[in-house]
Amino acid sequence: MVLVESLVLCSSISGLTLAATETTSWPPYAPTDAAIFQLSSDSQFAFYLEETIGLANWGGANTAEVLRIATQIIPHDFESVYEAYYYMAEEVYAIAESIDPQRDPVSAREAYYHASTYYRGADFFLHGNQSDPRLISLWTQQLTAFNKANALLDIPGERFTVKAHSETVGDYEAIGIFYAAYPDKRRGPTPTILVGRGYDSSQEEGYHSQCRQILSRGINCVTYEGPGQPTVRRQQNIGFVADWWSAATPVVDYLTTRPDVDMSKLALAGMSFGGILAPVAASHDHRFSAVIAIEGFYSAQQAFEEQFPVEIVQLFNTSNVTAFDTAMTGIVANSTYPSNFRWIVGYGLWAFDTLSPFDWFTRLGNITMSPRVVQNLPMPVFVGKGQDDVGTEQEPEIAYEMLVTGRPNGKALTYYHHFNTSLGAGEHCSLGAESQLWQAIMGWLSGVWDGWTYANI
Ligand SMILES: *[C@@H]1O[C@H](CO)[C@@H](O)[C@H](O)[C@H]1NC(C)=O
Ligand SMILES: *[C@@H]1O[C@H](CO)[C@@H](O)[C@H](O)[C@H]1NC(C)=O
Ligand SMILES: *[C@@H]1O[C@H](CO)[C@@H](O)[C@H](O)[C@H]1NC(C)=O
Ligand SMILES: *[C@@H]1O[C@H](CO)[C@@H](O)[C@H](O)[C@H]1NC(C)=O
Ligand SMILES: *[C@@H]1O[C@H](CO)[C@@H](O)[C@H](O)[C@H]1NC(C)=O
Ligand SMILES: *[C@@H]1O[C@H](CO)[C@@H](O)[C@H](O)[C@H]1NC(C)=O
Repeated sequence: MVLVESLVLCSSISGLTLAATETTSWPPYAPTDAAIFQLSSDSQFAFYLEETIGLANWGGANTAEVLRIATQIIPHDFESVYEAYYYMAEEVYAIAESIDPQRDPVSAREAYYHASTYYRGADFFLHGNQSDPRLISLWTQQLTAFNKANALLDIPGERFTVKAHSETVGDYEAIGIFYAAYPDKRRGPTPTILVGRGYDSSQEEGYHSQCRQILSRGINCVTYEGPGQPTVRRQQNIGFVADWWSAATPVVDYLTTRPDVDMSKLALAGMSFGGILAPVAASHDHRFSAVIAIEGFYSAQQAFEEQFPVEIVQLFNTSNVTAFDTAMTGIVANSTYPSNFRWIVGYGLWAFDTLSPFDWFTRLGNITMSPRVVQNLPMPVFVGKGQDDVGTEQEPEIAYEMLVTGRPNGKALTYYHHFNTSLGAGEHCSLGAESQLWQAIMGWLSGVWDGWTYANI
């Protein structure tokens, strides 16, 4: 549709300026028929922009800053995402640095948090080239900004590391941040939610999207990362492992040493791919009184297979390593292919610390909520489903069915919640609608915890 627009009238009547536009035909004001208004015609960029703007709900961004970033992003152009986010990150960080935090800690804290988010955004689409030095420098910048913001909280989060051991990567350190709900540890044991991240997102992001919701109800929030997740991958050069309990269990051991944790009310949440990792961890550690899978998930390999071209899947199924690797590597490097496909593979290779797509996809298939995992889950499990989450296909339904039929008392122990597109909550992990997400989870968890009444902080 061609827009023919001309300014025909601009007159001043009693102090009011009226501008009228004559338009013979209007442009369509419908960016797509997507479930959520898209900020880019590139659906992967639109998704990431939505993830970022959602952080504005809880102090991780400002809406106009993200809307401005969106104007600078060119579909299919990964480098343009870097440039748009990096420009904003540097400028907002400079604002933060210009503030005297003694005089105005709130301004400084907010600007540092926003800058941290935008440094992560600058990084997000660069993983196709694992030697890109910006993968390290941007991460250092996001951590620095985040730590400066955190130090300005009333109750700063406490970073911790714990010794861990995986049968595939050997000794390593799992990392985490403990956010106490109350300043005074003498207040005693407090219910606690441990929040695990997924395939790509960081524990820093989790502070805004999950912990703020949790803390506001008087529950301690703990984030953690294991192998393959952003900071551990960079600092220790290790990719995802199938024995995920190796990361979660030492964190729980640490929590037992804290007088402000009520170990009888400890829940484990997993976001996205974490919807697999959380049940896997809990199947080996029954100290969790509840598991929350935000997107319920059986297998990421299965979900991806359903979206890959059939020729590619056939190469994988026939173990044609050379042809599979050549095809996938070519796709990652070729910007004519859909950005989501390129990103999933390019990011996955990095997160699994490999250069072989065949190796990545094989190991991805080894991380599942298998029947054995399900059998060993005696605790209540919450399964979330974002109605419009095309990325996870039917995984939440599959996960629910397995949890109901694959363990004793499964029906009573499993709760399924459908987050609706009509209410804006249908996106992957209900991004940007975390109030609805946590309202549902907390309502359920109160029942699991014998009718627990939440605080109002
Ligand atoms: C990857 O990044 C490195 C370091 O910047 C650069 O030397 C190399 O040419 C890049 N590789 C590709 C394929 O772009
Ligand atoms: C799958 O995971 C198990 C640990 O649970 C490990 O022993 C095995 O080596 C893994 N297999 C592959 C192909 O990664
Ligand atoms: C590949 O293998 C999986 C698992 O055996 C199977 O479900 C799928 O149908 C196969 N796909 C193709 C295209 O061969
Ligand atoms: C692997 O795939 C390529 C391309 O389709 C084909 O030419 C080759 O014969 C296959 N190799 C094997 C061992 O199947
Ligand atoms: C990129 O892929 C397109 C098909 O989508 C193909 O025509 C083109 O030759 C590829 N470019 C490179 C450099 O391989
Ligand atoms: C949400 O979706 C479910 C399943 O489609 C439906 O039963 C329910 O009525 C919807 N709720 C609202 C508030 O739209």
